[in-house]
Amino acid sequence: MKILVIGREGQVGWELARVLAPLGPLTCLGRPELDLREPDRIRRTLAEARPDVVVNAAAYTAVDRAEQEPELAHQVNALAPAVLAEAARDCEAAFIHFSTDYVFDGAQSRPYREDDDPNPLSVYGRTKLEGEQRIHRVGGASLILRTSWVFSLRRPCFVTQVLHWARTQDRLRIAQDQVGSPTWARLLAEATGMLLVRLGPNPAQALSGLSGIYHLAASNSASRLEWARQILRLDPNAHQQRLTAEAIEPAYSRNFPTPATRPAFSALDSSRFASAFGLRLPSWEEGLRLAMDPDS
Ligand SMILES: NC(=O)c1ccc[n+]([C@@H]2O[C@H](COP(=O)([O-])OP(=O)(O)OC[C@H]3O[C@@H](n4cnc5c(N)ncnc54)[C@H](OP(=O)(O)O)[C@@H]3O)[C@@H](O)[C@H]2O)c1
Repeated sequence: MKILVIGREGQVGWELARVLAPLGPLTCLGRPELDLREPDRIRRTLAEARPDVVVNAAAYTAVDRAEQEPELAHQVNALAPAVLAEAARDCEAAFIHFSTDYVFDGAQSRPYREDDDPNPLSVYGRTKLEGEQRIHRVGGASLILRTSWVFSLRRPCFVTQVLHWARTQDRLRIAQDQVGSPTWARLLAEATGMLLVRLGPNPAQALSGLSGIYHLAASNSASRLEWARQILRLDPNAHQQRLTAEAIEPAYSRNFPTPATRPAFSALDSSRFASAFGLRLPSWEEGLRLAMDPDS
């Protein structure tokens, strides 16, 4: 199976570059080789590579900055995925794309399912939703995997930020009123790899009747506060911390105003993915424990 991954340097793309390597000839492109703002280059790249599957892990993910750069976010998150889906369809390749829990408004209190109505609160969420809709209109063999609160210890993210604060501050306040499904980038990449194994040598054909949106995130949910506390408990260098997990003070999102509004509750129910493909991600606690193991 010939695979093309886009977004090589991102949290998920970096893991995909390793996990997918045993599956067949693999090309991983970063922004310097393929800028998603250039539709002609996207078409040319796919036509020349003629992959069996295209996995797009690139996106404009700066949620707050997107409020100031809506056009750029729109190009990368809404327009480019449709060009990729079209170019993948034209070379009879399957297209796998990642989307986000931020397509929801967070008014619900049970984990979101694929048939729940989206209502994004931010430019980022709106552009990602439009990307999903445009891929759907292309009509090829495509999977849109919505995930949530992705982290990886090799790029700045909530986990690395909390560790930094715990080492540099004597007081820490974290929001208890934002709930999601913290998902380790490596497990997401591994589930994608196993999914491709299950689809077999002709993934586009195997996807017949299965194309569409699936939620794929860690099971169970956590508030930012619970997540932060567990990060400190699992920190292999806990002796460097200036405060304990229990010393983190509960706060509210309104205490930390940000340019973009985030949903208060965006945990995802991944059971549709589990029943379609026989794969699931472990709980967020288990994913975090694995990620924070110093030998990972
Ligand atoms: N992070 C989260 O919490 C989260 C939550 C839910 C869903 N998701 C979705 O999951 C997917 C993977 O996210 P991630 O966390 O791995 O993202 P990430 O670490 O921010 O990586 C995104 C990648 O996209 C690349 N990129 C940005 N603009 C580009 C452009 N114009 N042309 C080509 N590449 C470009 C970036 O390149 P540079 O390295 O050059 O900047 C970066 O490598 C995305 O679809 C995201 O929307 C993420």
